[in-house]
Amino acid sequence: MTDFLWGVSTSAFQIEGALGEDGRGPSVWDNFRNVHAGQTAEVACDHYHRWREDVALMTQLGVNAYRFSVSWTRVQPTGKGPVNTEGLDFYDRLVDALVDVDIAPVVTLYHWDTPQPLEDEGGWLNRDIVERFAEYTAIVADRLADRVKLWIPINEPAMVTLLGYATGQHAPGKQLLFDALPTAHHLNLAHGMSVQALRAAGANQVGTANNHTPAWTLNPEDAEAAGAYSAIHNWLYADPMLAGRYPDELAELMPIVDGDLENIKQPLDFYGVNYYNPTQLTSPSDGNPLPFELVDIDDYPRTGFGWPIVPDGLRQMISELRERYPDLPPVYITESGCSFPHVVEDSARIEYLDGHIKAALESDVQGFFVWSLIDNFEWDSGYSQRFGLVHVDYETQRRTPRDSFHWYRRVISGE
Ligand code: NOJ
Repeated sequence: MTDFLWGVSTSAFQIEGALGEDGRGPSVWDNFRNVHAGQTAEVACDHYHRWREDVALMTQLGVNAYRFSVSWTRVQPTGKGPVNTEGLDFYDRLVDALVDVDIAPVVTLYHWDTPQPLEDEGGWLNRDIVERFAEYTAIVADRLADRVKLWIPINEPAMVTLLGYATGQHAPGKQLLFDALPTAHHLNLAHGMSVQALRAAGANQVGTANNHTPAWTLNPEDAEAAGAYSAIHNWLYADPMLAGRYPDELAELMPIVDGDLENIKQPLDFYGVNYYNPTQLTSPSDGNPLPFELVDIDDYPRTGFGWPIVPDGLRQMISELRERYPDLPPVYITESGCSFPHVVEDSARIEYLDGHIKAALESDVQGFFVWSLIDNFEWDSGYSQRFGLVHVDYETQRRTPRDSFHWYRRVISGE
């Protein structure tokens, strides 16, 4: 297991703060107001200024990989056109600092912070964004490809479609239900074109960070509902990326142009899976426009967020993926973790991670990235959910490693 990647994950908007600094342009999340207690990411973890301290924490933790995202609007403030060198320089320095301490940089190019000017033109509903994303990819890869170990074009495309455009729980807050589906095709195509741009720039290894959830049912009669949910959440992205097709029931709703499926299905060096929990479905009740309904999973402990804790779901998901895609490339768990409020003593997080790391190792994966290094801005939940191995006091920005931090350090070092 010498090559196993033990890592932590973060994303730009959730930790950086400094939203107006050094030429960064606004993203859809800067303007999204439907956030817990009216909180904003104006300061977040102030990582933009404290990144050296955060790299030092990772050195102390002993990880050999760090997954972070690049903010599109730091690099291209309006999402197109001229490069903002100061923005690119920030990531260049970060990558150098990581390489210096033998932590492999793992870069996500898009973790939900769409440039606002592109959203004004339709965002992921507008096919033009694909070309913009490929251009942005080329800019970042041109600067960083010599040092980045793994590249991930898009984080959790399913959440962009579902929460950003179908239900509106996330930015840009559109509530289009099924009319959100074209965004899935544009996200998939953007993934494919970005992979091609990365290859052209000589990128090392290129993959994904798709989020997956096993679809459970209470009764066998609900199998159809579970299948419909799984198609939307799991297969709508994995099928075109890995098999060059769409799930039958969704194919005709996709705005496919000749050649798109070939462009989406690019050879991948790894398949990154974000796993948190299974989802339970029943058939829809009368008046529900959707072909499924979500129901609580009982009989399992829950995280502070109320999510069921089911390490077996990870085993199940990886074997479902291997069965569905016989040529599945090597798998990394690019995110797994839990939110709990405890400041330092967090045995509940240790238990969660212990179960999920064991499940991952038994599933023959190549790496495990804990979400997250530090507490951060949890999207519409603001700062109310704490996912960090390190506690952040948002008043003082003081970082305090939790018990789980020391525990993870021991797991990594094999103590
Ligand atoms: C997945 C997302 O990629 C990340 O941004 C989020 O904070 C975690 N899940 C926890 O919800």
